[in-house]
Amino acid sequence: MGTRNIREMGDPILKKKSKEVKEMTPRIQALIDDMFETMYEANGCGLAAVQVGVLKRIFVVDVTEDGSGATVFINPEIIETEGVQDGNEGCLSVPGKKGAVQRPKHVVVKALDEEMNEFILETDDLFARAICHENDHLDGILYVEKVHGPLLSSEVEESDEEEEEA
Ligand code: NI
Repeated sequence: MGTRNIREMGDPILKKKSKEVKEMTPRIQALIDDMFETMYEANGCGLAAVQVGVLKRIFVVDVTEDGSGATVFINPEIIETEGVQDGNEGCLSVPGKKGAVQRPKHVVVKALDEEMNEFILETDDLFARAICHENDHLDGILYVEKVHGPLLSSEVEESDEEEEEA
């Protein structure tokens, strides 16, 4: 295991569409392990494979403080959304920035786990936001394209606001 370099905005790979995972291999398992390690080290709550330079439809999310919410999504598909939520969003590929993005309040996502078994997860609020943000990465979309208003510095006010980098 180890951490990998996080690609930053301006790197053309971040605009590319990731490809479906056909089968689990030791190489992909190692990638997933490294993605979790990289995300935790960067204090992020989500990371897509493309952010470490691998164009596979995989992302990891953990919106908990204690690491208990670690979830990997392979070939994810958002099958249902409901409501809207407004909030600031950040991204490990856009360091030091945040901006207001509207997302669904509630999502139902279908994906494969590390054993390539299908699961359906239904969630809302921050977890739903993180899933939408990461899923966009798989299609080459960065949150900055969806920001309402200006892109702000995330270093200015470390207040009680929810600030998540994914
Ligand atoms: Ni991101």
